[in-house]
Amino acid sequence: MATADDPPATVTPKSTAPVAETPKPTPKPTPAPAKPAATPAGKAGAASAGVTPPINKMRRRLIWSGVWGFIAANFFMFLRFFFPRVLFEPNTVHNIGYASDFDIGVNEKFKQAYRIWVVKEPPRLFCIFARCTHLGCTPDWKPAENKFKCPCHGSGYTPEGINFEGPAPRPMDRAHIEKDAQGQIIVDTSRLYSWFKSQGGPDNFEDPGAFITI
Ligand code: FES
Repeated sequence: MATADDPPATVTPKSTAPVAETPKPTPKPTPAPAKPAATPAGKAGAASAGVTPPINKMRRRLIWSGVWGFIAANFFMFLRFFFPRVLFEPNTVHNIGYASDFDIGVNEKFKQAYRIWVVKEPPRLFCIFARCTHLGCTPDWKPAENKFKCPCHGSGYTPEGINFEGPAPRPMDRAHIEKDAQGQIIVDTSRLYSWFKSQGGPDNFEDPGAFITI
């Protein structure tokens, strides 16, 4: 057992031989990133940067607009084939009532609607188509003068529509007229009867259909 009088124990130092340290590898200096070379202006520059220049975008848009426009036009033309080409014309066949609805003489009731005058002259009733035979104006009925007068160049017609003054070359035409099963009068303004009086042509005013007997 060690006492205070015992000499201090000698501490044998551990081996102090220097240990050779493994040299750490020195990191190689990383070369600084090379600065990009100055890009040339224009297409090449934009392309190399991955950006589409605005002029190319515009060109592309124009081309696509043209392509789609062409396709759309062709599509509509294709659709057009499915719709019939129908010409809508106004109806020319009219029911104007009974003969007893009209007084003797010229009646203007249907002039605006159907462009006809109904003329009752027993034993006949007929319809004058209200178109001047000179250049096609619509004459006026002048009851005070008992005649039709064209406002364009002054042609005059009798109450039967026979021309007697002015440049009109012939009487006004008459519309086809007939009675239906109920005795009502049906007028068709697409079927006209003419009298080529001064030209020596036929007189169709006597044809069946040019008048009805009342
Ligand atoms: S159009 Fe009627 S007179 Fe000329």
